[in-house]
Amino acid sequence: MIINQLLKSHPVRGDDRGQLVAIESNIDVPFEIKRIFYIYGTSQGVPRGNHAHYKTKQYLISVSGSCKVTLDNGLDKETYVLDKQNKGLLQEEFVWGVMHDFSDDCVLLVLASEHYEDADYIREYDQFTKQVVK
Ligand code: TYD
Repeated sequence: MIINQLLKSHPVRGDDRGQLVAIESNIDVPFEIKRIFYIYGTSQGVPRGNHAHYKTKQYLISVSGSCKVTLDNGLDKETYVLDKQNKGLLQEEFVWGVMHDFSDDCVLLVLASEHYEDADYIREYDQFTKQVVK
């Protein structure tokens, strides 16, 4: 068990009109949010991710439907279920991440600490383990 504290529940500010969850930089997530992207319409049985980052931290929230995320720090792996709109998972830099088991209606929102840069990706698992397991 590595990183259970990386999974967080945010307050739902619901009232009789419906629900609202707010996420703020450096308060609800431990970084300045520079980019967001979201993944939806994922084909059945298809995993995404399968990489780590040198610098980028990501915060993942399934805002519709559900998916699983497996995080691997090179020593230990843990699979998390993202199935609530107020549940977020932190994927730090140098952590290998795979998103999988997407429901048809899953919309996975990702908040990122850096702008998109291809050079920030570690795409080869062997290269990843060489760098993290010293
Ligand atoms: P990719 O990193 O392969 O997605 P995943 O992490 O789910 O495997 O990204 C798919 C495409 O989208 C690829 O061409 C790069 C592009 N992309 C951006 O332009 N900006 C972004 O912020 C991200 C995450 C991807």
